Amino acid sequence: MIEYELRIATDPKWAEVAKADFDAFLKDHAACERKAAALAMSMVQHYPDKPDLIRGMIDLAMEEMAHFREVMKIMLAKGLQQGNDEKDPYINLLLKNVRRHSEMYLLDRLLIFSIVERRGHERFFMMGEALEDPKMKDFYVRLAKAEHRHYTLFMTLANQYYPEQVVADRLDELLDAEAEIVRHLPYRAAVH
Ligand SMILES: [Fe+2]
Ligand SMILES: [Fe+2]
Repeated sequence: MIEYELRIATDPKWAEVAKADFDAFLKDHAACERKAAALAMSMVQHYPDKPDLIRGMIDLAMEEMAHFREVMKIMLAKGLQQGNDEKDPYINLLLKNVRRHSEMYLLDRLLIFSIVERRGHERFFMMGEALEDPKMKDFYVRLAKAEHRHYTLFMTLANQYYPEQVVADRLDELLDAEAEIVRHLPYRAAVH
């Protein structure tokens, strides 16, 4: 399985909260793009024996860096400075599900990164709908489409390195875990 649905939809209130402090949202968004690029590059380095993963992650890192450049341009034009890096509660809670020191370590990471991109796809699309400025709307709709490609890339890799049923069963568990996390986290002027 490459495409799937999330188990809980983001409340439209999230877009209202994020729009109400859009500068804070942009700062967090820029940090997300930069961290996504860094993470993709760390995957490249950790799996020297997996050529398809390396190819996919280099492409991903370059695309996330291009997004970072675009968000930074918007921030700099507004005179905004980057904030300090804060722990993202959503990502931290999700990563607690990673089975370390296990042959499932890579599977768990690929699936969690896929789910993060899948959620990003949903939220950037919502942000595109919520914003009024046509340029910014287009920007977020374009990013939403990129997130769609990213979430399926992680699924393709998961299915390449693990048996289909193992992937499907673990995805099922992780989607439940993600829905629980989203249900309990307060909405902030941030991507998550
Ligand atoms: Fe991105
Ligand atoms: Fe992405």
